[in-house]
Amino acid sequence: MSSVLKFSAPGGSGSRYDKLVLPNGMVHRSVYTDPQIFEEEMTKIFGGSWVFLLHEGEIPKPNDYKTITVGRRPTIVTRTADGEIVALLNRCTHRASPVCIDEGGNARRFTCPYHGWIFSNKGELVSVAFPEGYGPDFDMKAHNLGRFPRVESYRGFVFGSLNPDVEPLLEWMGPARETLDWSIDRDKAGPGGVKVIKGIQMTYKGNWKHQNDNNTDGYHTPFLHKATNVMNRLRHGPGKWLSHVNDNTEMICQYLGHGHKLGDHRAELRSAWQQSRPIPGREAFADSLIEQIGEAMAHEYLELVGRAGINLILYPNLFVMGNGTFAVFEPVAVDLTNVRYYTTLINDAPEQVNQLRIRFDEDFHNVGSRDDSEVMELVQHVLTVVPEMEWLDVSRGMVRQKVDPKTGVITSNKTDDTAIRGAYEHWKYLMSRDVRTSVV
Ligand code: FES
Ligand SMILES: [Fe+2]
Repeated sequence: MSSVLKFSAPGGSGSRYDKLVLPNGMVHRSVYTDPQIFEEEMTKIFGGSWVFLLHEGEIPKPNDYKTITVGRRPTIVTRTADGEIVALLNRCTHRASPVCIDEGGNARRFTCPYHGWIFSNKGELVSVAFPEGYGPDFDMKAHNLGRFPRVESYRGFVFGSLNPDVEPLLEWMGPARETLDWSIDRDKAGPGGVKVIKGIQMTYKGNWKHQNDNNTDGYHTPFLHKATNVMNRLRHGPGKWLSHVNDNTEMICQYLGHGHKLGDHRAELRSAWQQSRPIPGREAFADSLIEQIGEAMAHEYLELVGRAGINLILYPNLFVMGNGTFAVFEPVAVDLTNVRYYTTLINDAPEQVNQLRIRFDEDFHNVGSRDDSEVMELVQHVLTVVPEMEWLDVSRGMVRQKVDPKTGVITSNKTDDTAIRGAYEHWKYLMSRDVRTSVV
């Protein structure tokens, strides 16, 4: 049996979650609205599985750090002086204040603002104010910051887990790795590597799984994003963008196991640049690039601009869009979620290419992502206030999806719920198992 199938279903554990995600594609409203379930997710999914922490390009130099949240836990991810990447719970071992309140920076040590204890960026307690009060037997080592037991980087993407027994990272990635590799290789970043910059951040009043569902929901595009589609056609003419207007297309969705999902539009994407939306400065940047490096090379670079034709979700919280853009889903409460967008810039590429990458990153999120956020808030509200109707339907495509017998990957039409359904099977698996989370 393939690893995908092995990890896709709990196999009739008889847990209460079997009653919330049904084999006929129905998902219970409480999965999105129950604070108790949300609390359990923060332990079993955001603690017990691998989660995306950050891109190495966000902390490129020794002693760089960034603060994030991991299933709500305040966390500091540091690159130590010897280059190791470490994830520390941002919780003082004295009386639980965060030891670092900045978003990021460069520091060898963190001084707790409450009573001045000082920790190294590896998490060791190095100094206690007025130590006489604790006597000579005070155990400094027992007061180190809590450190994630597992942190691994895959080609710049850093993942961590609070479950010391979590499966090997590559096993967890499974077939999703192929598309992530495709996306990273496409940039041909060269010796200069990439730099990561922060794009926009959106907060919506809804459960984090709405965003996770939405990113491989190819059904909503012609309806919810109608205004964006019409604007594109009016400003750009026909035939430039993908055929999101009907169900008859070569685009697909796939369930890749371990909750990972792919909306794959590449079959219809002849040119990322030619089929990209109009953005401010598009033609001016392209003209100046052609003038600088010639037509052939300029067009190679321009293909690294615009959407690359993938929506790859590494479950639960990383969304890779290709051509350098990715996003992180950050649950705040059962009905509140942050989505942070990032762009990678290619350090060795001409300035115009990176400028265009930034403009494209701003583009859809300032237009289309607002549609998504708005409808996700509406859905959350209606789910919350209408207890008489309990179920959501994610059954679309069950009648036509196909399983690859070798890999277990399930493929269907891009408008189908196949990938979403797979993620809920994995959700059920993660929520049904007993898991131990701890720090070292
Ligand atoms: S809470 Fe950090 S030093 Fe007291
Ligand atoms: Fe959307």
